[in-house]
Amino acid sequence: MATMLFGFGDKVGSPVARERNSWLLWPKPAPFRQSMIGPSPAITSSPRVVARSARQIWSTFAMTSTATVTPIAHRTVSHAAPTAPGAIPLLGHWPRFGRRPYRFLSTLAAVGPVVRVRIPGYDTYVVTDPELVREAFVALSDQGLMIERAEALLGEGVTVLQGQRHRRERRMIAPAFAKSRIARYAAVMTRLGAERAASWRNGDFLAVNEQMHDLALRTVAGSLFTGELGSETAEHIHRLLPPVMTLLSRRVTRPAWIDRLPLPGNRRFDRLVVQMKAATGAIIAAYRAELAADPDLDHGDLLDTLLKARDESGGALTDSQVHDELINFLVGGTEAIGATLAWVFHELGQNPEVEAALHAEVDAVLRADGPARAAEFGDLAELEVTKRIVLETLRKYSPWLTVRHVPTPYTLGGVEIPGGSMLFVCPVAVHRDPAIHPDPQRFDPDRWLPERMADMSKGAHIPFGMGARQCPGNVFALTEIALQVATLSAHWRLRPVPGIPVRETVIGALVHPEKLLMRAEAR
Ligand code: HEM
Repeated sequence: MATMLFGFGDKVGSPVARERNSWLLWPKPAPFRQSMIGPSPAITSSPRVVARSARQIWSTFAMTSTATVTPIAHRTVSHAAPTAPGAIPLLGHWPRFGRRPYRFLSTLAAVGPVVRVRIPGYDTYVVTDPELVREAFVALSDQGLMIERAEALLGEGVTVLQGQRHRRERRMIAPAFAKSRIARYAAVMTRLGAERAASWRNGDFLAVNEQMHDLALRTVAGSLFTGELGSETAEHIHRLLPPVMTLLSRRVTRPAWIDRLPLPGNRRFDRLVVQMKAATGAIIAAYRAELAADPDLDHGDLLDTLLKARDESGGALTDSQVHDELINFLVGGTEAIGATLAWVFHELGQNPEVEAALHAEVDAVLRADGPARAAEFGDLAELEVTKRIVLETLRKYSPWLTVRHVPTPYTLGGVEIPGGSMLFVCPVAVHRDPAIHPDPQRFDPDRWLPERMADMSKGAHIPFGMGARQCPGNVFALTEIALQVATLSAHWRLRPVPGIPVRETVIGALVHPEKLLMRAEAR
């Protein structure tokens, strides 16, 4: 279980062997050495062991690592970070950051590996160098003020918890993402993918971002509660979540006192949160009653795993903690998977040669015996092109911000960072830095061929973060995206609609396509 939590107990400057960037791993069949939730790998500073440990984790997605660890040159002399140019009196960089956040952060690699940014209220440092990104993710795990703002919805789930409580609960939720469980959730993904493929008609104009968001939400909700009992609740949550997410993303980026004003938006948010709690509370009570009657019952879903989770001393999660974790999974999973799926189809529409390679692959795997079928968990090993497309999409369109709180003075890459500061890592900026990923705007899934990623730094591909807070749903997400891309592409080609430019827009921590309209063409 603790392999999911490499950063547990990390101290500043702890050995690199404890971090776990999964992204340097590649789909080449490898012996399965250790389950993703197996015992924690031995702690060692050997770079070779780093690569092996990461490979073990990612063998869940049938990938192997060719990663090497690059030494950092700039460590010896300690100095102050350069400040980003363009600050204005009082507001500092806020106008530039607030208007086009990740575009502003993308300019900072030219300034230095660690750059000071002036945002009123926060002493902020931005890390642009992938090796230092890796080091910071391993050393620091708390997120500070910004995430506390999301507490109204996320309650006391892992996203918000800090320190020892975070470590305990990460261990307890880990079995929910074990390989055997992912295989069971994959059955839900396969079913919903097939239903979605069957729901489109030739020539339909599809709002692709809405379609994919809906599919992602149904899949996460369907994996939370698989049984009959859960379908009504899943449907209810499906209606509640989109408005809650919209209101939440507004809250986290504005001053806290506004949340307490009796504004219509605040009242609506509070009402929706109460309704979500009531919906999940009812299903938790029903599951508990069923499990009390038959302790051997296994619903095979996330809720079942959470109710059976125990810590080292046999303690279970309370109803309120189970509820909070469910909401954390829903919120963590839905938006990011939906946006990534939408970007996949946008990029396929723009890159006919990539689309052709994908179609050749899915035809070989899913149409071998006649009409196209939906992709299943067991097909993943053969869906090599599909998986490369998923990784490349997550490079170009990952979350744009992860935040770490620096509790005490900390030296990173020779730069002194005062205690109490915020550290920003902008995955989109790292992923689009031409010095790290040449020709970054080009959608090139073959970047993820083993020979081409051999020298890539571990901090160069970080859509799921790293260290103690690395996304616990990473394998779930990769599985879901790969299966849905394969299933939908076996049946449909989505064509761009001429004359409608597709713009990037920031919603919460993600870059979404704004109005992605495409036309469905039967294959
Ligand atoms: C493409 C899909 C996804 C992306 C890009 C993504 C990205 C991330 C990132 C970057 C973090 C770490 C944030 C940080 O370092 O501060 C994170 C955390 C988290 N994710 Fe995901 N995620 C995805 C899917 C999922 C899914 C499917 C689930 C659950 C079903 C999930 C649940 C969570 C939770 C609970 C956390 C908080 C972990 C903690 O703080 O310990 N995510 N995710």
